Amino acid sequence: MFHILVADPISKEGLDVLQQKPNVTVTDETNLSPDELENRINQFDALLVRSQTKVTRPVIEKASQLKIIGRAGVGVDNIDLDAATEQGIIVVNAPNGNTNSAAEHTMAMMMALSRQIPQAHVSLKNGKWDRKKYVGVELKNKTLGIIGLGRIGTEVAYRAKGQHMNVMAYDPFLTEEKAEQMGIEYGTLEDILQKADYITVHTPLLKETRHMINADAFAKMKDGVHIINCARGGIIDEEALYNSIVNEKVAGAAIDVLEEEPFQDHQLLELPQVIATPHLGASTVEAQENVAIDVCHDVISHLTGDMAKNP
Ligand code: NAD
Ligand code: MLT
Repeated sequence: MFHILVADPISKEGLDVLQQKPNVTVTDETNLSPDELENRINQFDALLVRSQTKVTRPVIEKASQLKIIGRAGVGVDNIDLDAATEQGIIVVNAPNGNTNSAAEHTMAMMMALSRQIPQAHVSLKNGKWDRKKYVGVELKNKTLGIIGLGRIGTEVAYRAKGQHMNVMAYDPFLTEEKAEQMGIEYGTLEDILQKADYITVHTPLLKETRHMINADAFAKMKDGVHIINCARGGIIDEEALYNSIVNEKVAGAAIDVLEEEPFQDHQLLELPQVIATPHLGASTVEAQENVAIDVCHDVISHLTGDMAKNP
């Protein structure tokens, strides 16, 4: 028998993949405290999470039976990969299933930011008919700088071209030839900081990308730049972003992720120029089905002896 702990909510279609197997038990407990997780993890062969559960070294060190950790989503920054590797535990993610949703959310945030839709909506709901205050700017002919042209960054690039934006991207793996094929401009990080009207980040959170958008980076940007982060909190230095908005260097920011989540009382949320969602980039029916099915297939394959697709 293989015992699988599902510690964050994942879609029913994924759970079905697990439950259809005869030699598998599924424990679906999505409200365990960190202590409870530590105390119970030694009973399980596999652990399934999204981003809420932090799979820390103390959890992994107690996981004497654990063979695989499945992440229903892309980012594995909530899992201590070094500790898992030391313990011989495979970590798999589901890299493709939420790409479209995250790209759509990025575009929705960029458009909402440009037209101040959330602010105007709240104002109207509060009984004000204020057409003067909420004058926006068009995306057409503006330059979008994409930092990180992987799966999501690429989809954002194609969508932004559909909005008639000039798209420029920086990614260590992007070549001038590839950029030309895509009909976008190849840039360095400096080029993007200096030329973009909108900057959106789509890198993983790594030690190299932590605070890559910091006070120095903001200082190089155009006045009135718009910032979008639907990737990971921590890529942008939040203090520097706050100061840059207050100093009117940055016209506005759209934020789906912050360094500490869940976030409620963050100072950025007090600024009228900031619009925010509570880490909803991948929260669509389709994306949640896709990632849950993909990761559950991988977990089952690994437990039953096949190689997982995304270790
Ligand atoms: P990906 O691996 O396909 O792309 C990441 C890209 O970043 C790669 O092309 C890589 O070369 C590039 N990169 C790495 N270091 C860089 C650096 N220093 N400078 C510039 N580029 C760099 O990943 P993806 O699927 O496109 O996901 C991107 C990010 O979005 C991840 O952080 C992921 O966790 C996050 N994400 C968030 C949501 C959400 O709900 N908000 C949903 C899905 C993914
Ligand atoms: C991801 O990395 O896939 C996203 O942050 C989405 C999620 O965790 O649900």
